[in-house]
Amino acid sequence: MSLEEIILQVQTCKKCSLWQTSLHGVPGEGPMDAKVMFIGQNPGAEEDKTGRPFVGRAGKFLTKTLTEFGINRNEVYITNIVKHTSPKNRKPSPDEVTTCLPYLNQQITLIKPKIIVLLGASAKETPRIEGITYFEVVHPSAAMRFTKMREKFQTQIAQLAKQIKQQQQQ
Ligand code: URA
Repeated sequence: MSLEEIILQVQTCKKCSLWQTSLHGVPGEGPMDAKVMFIGQNPGAEEDKTGRPFVGRAGKFLTKTLTEFGINRNEVYITNIVKHTSPKNRKPSPDEVTTCLPYLNQQITLIKPKIIVLLGASAKETPRIEGITYFEVVHPSAAMRFTKMREKFQTQIAQLAKQIKQQQQQ
């Protein structure tokens, strides 16, 4: 299956009930050969409206922080574990996660990132694959709101930027 096919499948997915309470499936975006992949839990209201991941307040904060540390959002792949938003932005159920995970696994298989950055709670639900370096970072929505979390997030993104540079030199 190609990345385009996955995108189409997500956009028309009815495997769980979340499509009934959302406007758009949000497959993810970024280059097919991205070396770095960011994974969040599931889209929020702004993402649901636009069909794009991390474009709301938390997304803008993420993009800004990446830029500050020399990481270009356009060069990384950004997606979520669960591809539809949930009513009142509730946490996706274990069943919804299990049902949606094959999309993420296919995206990882096709894109073959060297580094996966897990944003907040997605760290608990994303299966680890050998040969990929995982970074668990504070979710940008928490980083945006709390000073201590923001400092931690900035330190984590600085470490990530360093690791990306090292990999580019290999
Ligand atoms: N939070 C997430 O976890 N994912 C998004 O796409 C937006 C906000």
